[in-house]
Amino acid sequence: MADNTYELCNEHKGIKEHLPVIEGTQGPHAVDVSKLYRDTGVLTYDPGFMSTASCESRITYIDGEAGILEYRGYPIEQLAEKATFLEVAYLLLHGDLPSSVQLREFEQIIVYHTMLNETLKNFYDGFHHDAHPMAIMVGVVGSLSAFYHDSLDVNDPHHREVSAHRLLAKMPTIAAASYKHNISEPIVYPDNNLSYCANFLNMMFSTPCEPYEVNSTAEKAVNLLFILHADHEQNASTSTVRLAGSSLANPFACIAAGIASLWGPAHGGANEAVLNMLTDIGDVSQIDKYIAKAKDKSDKFRLMGFGHRVYKNFDPRADILREVCKEVLDKLPVDDSPLFELALRLEEIALHDEYFVKRKLYPNVDFYSGIIYRALGIPNNMFTVMFALGRTVGWVAHWMEMMSDPEQKIGRPRQIYKGSPRREYIPIENR
Ligand code: SDX
Repeated sequence: MADNTYELCNEHKGIKEHLPVIEGTQGPHAVDVSKLYRDTGVLTYDPGFMSTASCESRITYIDGEAGILEYRGYPIEQLAEKATFLEVAYLLLHGDLPSSVQLREFEQIIVYHTMLNETLKNFYDGFHHDAHPMAIMVGVVGSLSAFYHDSLDVNDPHHREVSAHRLLAKMPTIAAASYKHNISEPIVYPDNNLSYCANFLNMMFSTPCEPYEVNSTAEKAVNLLFILHADHEQNASTSTVRLAGSSLANPFACIAAGIASLWGPAHGGANEAVLNMLTDIGDVSQIDKYIAKAKDKSDKFRLMGFGHRVYKNFDPRADILREVCKEVLDKLPVDDSPLFELALRLEEIALHDEYFVKRKLYPNVDFYSGIIYRALGIPNNMFTVMFALGRTVGWVAHWMEMMSDPEQKIGRPRQIYKGSPRREYIPIENR
């Protein structure tokens, strides 16, 4: 039987290599080119990593053609319907669903770490009140290593675990404080009697002046949103965290790098851009104009919340969020149904347009999430912060997986040099 390798042949350069194949549990297999340059002096070229697997991972599986997303083998639809976010966080970090005792212990550990070092509060005063909350998040999360010195030895599994717990526990507190700073209201401390999601909503919307009761529909929606955003294999921000971590940088710096990458409108910043786009479109009568702009190559405009590098079918998260939109808008005292109707109509028109059909451009996770955030009273500039809150556990899980890999090495891609050939320095008087 023919060996399971790929043959690389270049008679002109006298190269003939048999490259081994790496098979996954499921999904595409890969040609192992890790020794290609050492053995042949030839590089592979793949800008944007369209055809490149950067690592092996056991955390999340995506089948873009079939619209499948699984965390540690569990379908996202089942986790979204039946699990709590901390249950899913435990699954992503430890590889299996927790028992009731394990979950209770995990919840207690996370609750223990929700407060911030009191001095950290002063950091917020350094930001102008109208600073974008994502700018505050990048700064404050990156500064955590200046406050938590006792969990920075990335080669110590116990330190890694403590940092993981601190990040998961403190992100909602940091995020809510970013919002409070933005609206010039006092920061609200965590309430350890509340669930992870209820605690976040309380820190966001309660004030010292009057009692605040968390709405159960809002708590359920936040739980679902955090689960849907928790991980997504090697997306841009997760790959950023892995690359930053590969230099053995501390975990707080790595997650700050992930937050920075997520902020881009091509990635996690898209949810804020979708709401801004829907507001600009304003009315169903304007949809055709914006669809034409999205198709016009001379126009930089893209239909935000549409398209995906991996999903060439529906993003399963968008399907779930479309349904949750209806439920939240029905149950919460907001009248954003015109916005939701506009989004539904935009989706329907785009999905029947040859340009989008041919390029397999479907709504992604960011298309509907912003409508739900708005219905919860969360402002547009906090939408990507919400994405970061869900994704933190995924970033941390990938960082932990990479750091515990005995084969772990610094990530250092090469390039194809297209610049000037060698030339001699010209004294300035002769230029
Ligand atoms: C997230 O990677 C992840 O997993 C990300 C994420 C996660 O959970 O981490 O799922 C979260 O980032 C979702 C994506 C959010 N971004 C947006 O909604 C921004 C709008 N979408 C596009 O910018 C784009 O679709 C990307 C960035 C999402 C994907 O870009 P690709 O894979 O590089 O595709 P491409 O730019 O090469 O586009 C292929 C074709 C091009 O046309 P042609 O040159 O072939 O004629 O499709 C066109 C593009 O112009 N196209 C779009 C479009 N997206 C792609 N045209 C109009 N509107 C769009 N949204």
